[in-house]
Amino acid sequence: MTGNSGDAGTKKEPHPMLRLVDRQRTPEHVGIIMDGNGRWAKARGLVRIEGHKAGIDGVKAAVEAAQDLKLKYLTLYAFSVENWKRPASEVRALFQLLSRYIDQEHKRILDTGIRFRVIGRIADLPKGPRAKLEKLIEETRDAEGMTLTLALSYGGRTEIADACDTIVRRTLAGEREGPVTEAEFARHLYAPDLPDPDLLIRTSGEYRVSNFLLWQIAYSELVILDILWPDFREEHFIEAVLDFQRRERRYGGVSGAAKRKATPGAAR
Ligand code: FPP
Repeated sequence: MTGNSGDAGTKKEPHPMLRLVDRQRTPEHVGIIMDGNGRWAKARGLVRIEGHKAGIDGVKAAVEAAQDLKLKYLTLYAFSVENWKRPASEVRALFQLLSRYIDQEHKRILDTGIRFRVIGRIADLPKGPRAKLEKLIEETRDAEGMTLTLALSYGGRTEIADACDTIVRRTLAGEREGPVTEAEFARHLYAPDLPDPDLLIRTSGEYRVSNFLLWQIAYSELVILDILWPDFREEHFIEAVLDFQRRERRYGGVSGAAKRKATPGAAR
């Protein structure tokens, strides 16, 4: 890997592949399904938790690469609603790693102006990590750099069901009436101000969306990388962006015509 994951004060060389990126056409929002920690560990005769531990290096690399690429939004799928079915020891270890990640990266997140967010059923999370997340969200509320969103206890179907629930309650309470439009629906998602992802990256070579941002990825470009998450580095991120830049986005229109900007609620 070129570059490093040192602290914010350490100046690192820009990755040479960054020169290949068309700065006029970088995605505004990238979502990542981080997959393959378990297989990475198994291939080395290690327990699964060691794979998650090594996955932290992938997270740091992704955040730094996104900042080098000057993305506005990066959303990482860190823990799904389905992940609660994993053994309690693995769930515990994942939240310990999350806490450790926040402790280690706290200064860098503040120094580099990251606005930190969480989407998902946050009330489900263990108290300690939840308090740390809430503190970090509050501390970075007015930051003007990249928005880093972690999806935690997140499910795309759950998010859609939660939005429906709110709309039904508001209707019954007489606070709204009439047919629900796409734009109104989108305002009830967990983070309605986030634009839809332009690019969705998944590691581990699996061709699945695994209940991630189901509403928001309607027109996202998908890039599947054949590496396991702990091996993810800046070059893989740049490779995915270069692949994205070779695509023509038509949004259901015809070549050279439809140009839909991925802004909150656009074309919804
Ligand atoms: C998928 O690999 C990965 C996860 C369910 C968790 C992702 C967590 C991390 C990268 C570490 C902690 C996160 C943060 C944000 C600090 P898997 O276990 O499903 O792998 P497998 O499919 O090979 O079994």
